[in-house]
Amino acid sequence: MDKVAYLQTWGCQMNVHDTEKIAGVLRGEGYAFTNKPEDAALIILNTCSIREKAEHKFLSRLGYFRRLKKKRPAMQIVVSGCIAQQEGEKFLIDNQYVDFTFGPQNIAKLPELILRDKRKAAVEENPYLAETELPSIRNDGTRAWVNIMYGCNNFCSYCVVPHTRGRERSRPMDSIVNEIRTLSDEGYKEITLLGQNVNSYNDPNNGTCASFAELLTAVNAVKGIERVRFVTSHPKDLSPELIAAIGDLDKVCEHIHLPLQSGSTKILSSMNRKYSYAQYLDKITALRDSVPGITITSDIITGFPGETSEDHKETLSALREIEFDGIFAFKYSKRRYTRAADMEGQLDEEIKSERLKTILELQDVITDKINRKLKGQTVEILVEGESSSDPAHWTGRTRTNKIVNFIPVESVKKGMFITVNITNSFRHSLEGQPDR
Ligand code: 5AD
Ligand code: SF4
Repeated sequence: MDKVAYLQTWGCQMNVHDTEKIAGVLRGEGYAFTNKPEDAALIILNTCSIREKAEHKFLSRLGYFRRLKKKRPAMQIVVSGCIAQQEGEKFLIDNQYVDFTFGPQNIAKLPELILRDKRKAAVEENPYLAETELPSIRNDGTRAWVNIMYGCNNFCSYCVVPHTRGRERSRPMDSIVNEIRTLSDEGYKEITLLGQNVNSYNDPNNGTCASFAELLTAVNAVKGIERVRFVTSHPKDLSPELIAAIGDLDKVCEHIHLPLQSGSTKILSSMNRKYSYAQYLDKITALRDSVPGITITSDIITGFPGETSEDHKETLSALREIEFDGIFAFKYSKRRYTRAADMEGQLDEEIKSERLKTILELQDVITDKINRKLKGQTVEILVEGESSSDPAHWTGRTRTNKIVNFIPVESVKKGMFITVNITNSFRHSLEGQPDR
């Protein structure tokens, strides 16, 4: 069979970027890529286990690949990512048609795994991953993700990530900055620094110990890069130094994704989040004072074990008080290995669904109110190209991370910065008219 690979990804930006690295490693082995699994010799499914729903989506797709392999037995089916890590050898025992698996810390082993005769689950902890420089295939050309740290030490009681991605490891600052310089030379304009807990970044190089704020300063100095973003930040590591850096550095965009998870301090404590609601609110005030116009988005988990209707009301009043620009809200999902899985007071699905609905309805009203105020304003966007949901429109993003759709005009190309007048607002996007 020709060396042709089909890759599919579920989950977060970290996983999407891991797939870019998997592609980079495969290209080094002479592979080409297809978007038709039926034509592939190698299928790699990069999975997510953050919530049960993500696992279900993958498992139902896996059935299709099993049938495909019955018709084409020479094809290799490979499972990577967080489910592979979490299930280890068991996954191979339960799914005999899967050739091998590898976790997020073992991408570099891919070439030898492909050639091995014996099936293997490559799920070893790899403490040196931070030093491993893997090539990436990035398809965008304008916006790039760059890993700055791997893993997580926080052990929020609901979260499987510390179990699948291992202990926190920061990548040396000079290696990060070198990668960004290369990206700038290739024409990239926007960099998103990636980590499970980006703002606990700590340069591991001999004695420098640069903080995340210092890293931002170094990235800000790279010529040719125009915008710098970062995800995801933990409130406990949002220092005054970092807040000042976000405000002072011209390329660092006025947007932060800062997961709150719950408005109840009691629930935050049992989630092991290490901050109270009042402390979170103080950080929001400091951000808004130091970074004029900053937009703030967040994550909320509803129906955590022991959440009473009072706790739920505290989350609703937090949403009213803070007025996030947008949120991702999830029903609590019980995850293996996590402390919350064994907690008392697990709630029924119906209660979780009911609470989720109330949260989303409230946030819709808030987002709508905020976005409405943008009507009539002139903003700068970075043009991303054709909108995925509506081919009649093109799309771009403001520095504050708002999506703006517009009718394309001849002079506007992907990767350009243009100004648009906002003509209309919707819940998840804005509509604008290019100012040229
Ligand atoms: N159940 C529901 N949501 C979860 N998240 C993480 N683990 C769980 C879980 N077990 C959410 C958190 C996190 C986001 C990436 O996913 O809100 O910030
Ligand atoms: Fe999971 Fe908490 Fe780490 Fe985020 S900070 S990855 S929610 S354990």
